[in-house]
Amino acid sequence: MSKRKILVTSALPYANGPIHLGHVLEAVQTDIWVRFQKLRGVDCVYVCADDAHGTAIMLRAEDEGITPEQLIDRVRSEHKADYDGFLIGFDNYHSTHSPENRQYSESIYTALRANNRINVRTIKQLFDPEKELFLADRFVKGCCPKCRAPDQYGDNCEACGATYSPAELIDPRSTLSGATPVERESEHYFFRLPEFTDMLKAWTRSGSLQPQVANKLSEWLDAGLQEWDISRDAPYFGFEIPDAPGKYFYVWLDAPIGYMASFQNLCDRSDYRFDDYWKPGTDTELYHFIGKDIINFHALFWPAMLSDAGYRTPSAVFAHGFMTVNGKKMSKSRGTFINAGTYLQHLDPEYLRYFLASRLGSGVDDLDLSFAEFSQKVNADLVGKVVNIASRCAGFVVRGFDGQLAEQPSNPALLAECREAADEIGNAFEQREYSKAIRQIMALADKGNQYIAEQQPWVLAKQNPQDPAVQAICTTGINLFRLLMVYLKPVVPAMAAKAEAFLNAGELTWSDSRNLLLSHRINAFSPIMTRVDPASIDALLAASQAEVKQAVSSPEPANSPEPASSPEPVSSPESEASPVSKEPIADEIEFSDFVKVDLRIARIAAAAYVDGADKLLQLTLDLGLGADGQPFQRNVFSGIRSAYKPEELEGRLTVVVANLKPRKMKFGLSEGMVLAAGPGGTDIWLLSPDQGAEPGMRIL
Ligand code: MSP
Ligand code: ZN
Repeated sequence: MSKRKILVTSALPYANGPIHLGHVLEAVQTDIWVRFQKLRGVDCVYVCADDAHGTAIMLRAEDEGITPEQLIDRVRSEHKADYDGFLIGFDNYHSTHSPENRQYSESIYTALRANNRINVRTIKQLFDPEKELFLADRFVKGCCPKCRAPDQYGDNCEACGATYSPAELIDPRSTLSGATPVERESEHYFFRLPEFTDMLKAWTRSGSLQPQVANKLSEWLDAGLQEWDISRDAPYFGFEIPDAPGKYFYVWLDAPIGYMASFQNLCDRSDYRFDDYWKPGTDTELYHFIGKDIINFHALFWPAMLSDAGYRTPSAVFAHGFMTVNGKKMSKSRGTFINAGTYLQHLDPEYLRYFLASRLGSGVDDLDLSFAEFSQKVNADLVGKVVNIASRCAGFVVRGFDGQLAEQPSNPALLAECREAADEIGNAFEQREYSKAIRQIMALADKGNQYIAEQQPWVLAKQNPQDPAVQAICTTGINLFRLLMVYLKPVVPAMAAKAEAFLNAGELTWSDSRNLLLSHRINAFSPIMTRVDPASIDALLAASQAEVKQAVSSPEPANSPEPASSPEPVSSPESEASPVSKEPIADEIEFSDFVKVDLRIARIAAAAYVDGADKLLQLTLDLGLGADGQPFQRNVFSGIRSAYKPEELEGRLTVVVANLKPRKMKFGLSEGMVLAAGPGGTDIWLLSPDQGAEPGMRIL
């Protein structure tokens, strides 16, 4: 059999938000698989990129007063740094806003058009007359036409479940400007997906998909596919469609092509050949690791496009479930949204890599990051079982035998058992059954610890540090540790590197599970993994909550460029704007914490729009007289523009946190925060005190 050649991808994260622990789950799942293949000597290459196009990125750049190109460059290096921090070993990390991607997007589109797969027709869409922009469904809100619930998105009602078109909303508003949208006609380009129904039915059943995914796809296929709208009107940040001025490829058209572009970019700098991996009939393998929310794009549109444009289809698409944190959906409003960079400031990346491995299987189940279990796993397994074997044995070998391992181990049978487990553990990794692999590895670690505990080399060494039995027992222990580190290396590569330095025998590969380290000198042992510090977890959670609170005064666009115009997803991440009443109460605080918050009545002396910030209003607050007897005023930027016009606010009383540490924002210094409540959008209510209240009064 010729050597396997594999190309692997993770989904491309959007360039309008930071990498969070959900992205990390996906990257770690992929990276473990890739490292496992490489460890076994397979030629496996792993590419990814930022997904840099779409309306959200354009708006975000506008908000920040920079060009989209500047934004995506900055975000790409932030993303890369976060992934590096989690030891994700990409062979290339590119961008969809690249010359390679433009070229492949254009050529694939041109091929589809030549095959008569593109249909042009006029559709009606809501248009924001103020921002001069066609509005995707999630940028329109209004009252549900069925039940009249206020503040519903343009496609369905969260209150009664009705689905409708945005034009049916009662009193619709653009969430971008607050303006009333108007209907406008425009020509759109459609990919004739229904013509691929038979091809997709066959592909779906060809074993390329997990059973749960294949079942879902069969449902969609049986229900009938619809043509896929692949164009968006200017202004849009993306690639203009050939021969269609003012029309751009929808971000989801060129996003998967970004896999090819990233690989092409790597080929240009290496010996890899593009055609070896992308031409039909090749014996190379192509795998996409993705979340279950984007299956339709990867298992319907993508294989159809590829096959029609003369490329191979993926060998398999591997979907995973979603990460929850302490039992709750990752959500900004719940304070369970943890950014990768914040995690890295507080905790070791390999803690999370190990924890995820211990929980990941090949299915699409969600995975809960419970920090109690996280600490318990890392401490009990990595530190308590694996490191423990080495740390119990190393000192005796170094002190009593000058670091020299024995010619023969005391327990060859135990080591043989550990070596023979390689196939089963390897199969589990190959099948993405990481939790199974970890269970097997830890069962071996248990046996090793039990053996050392029974033999008590410390008792023997006390009588005679040079007792050959001590050397032989510890040689068993250290070889066991070495085998465990071979198996764990895909999961904890930095820990493995430290183990390699200790073992002093070069880099471990999978085939090292076939041999033992005997009559060999090891180095002194230094702890290669320490226990999780509970204070660091508290600090991480506190820092994550603080970031969320900051985000309230400068709201971020939702981390999705636009709603997926696609069949119903298997599961879609919940919208962030959940009504306040659904939010759990935060952890208890001391009275002494509460009194630190200086709440004051303020009169809004002036309110104004902020140039270049479509979420913010600038408020000048009158807080009575200061300590010096002079009028005391504060300047505050508040994210309430979607709900209030400046002229509605001037003269009104409200409540302000008067002693909040001033924060430098792009538009100036914000010296406090006004209190408001509501689900967001046009429904944000400033706290309005009763008559009798006067500027400067303290609230107690
Ligand atoms: N840009 C698209 C993907 C294009 S691929 C050609 C996208 N970006 S994303 O940033 O929203 O998500 C990137 C990946 O992260 C997706 O596979 C998504 O499923 C995954 N996750 C996002 N949040 C997640 C969790 N909370 N948990 C696990 N994975 C999650 O979709
Ligand atoms: Zn309704």
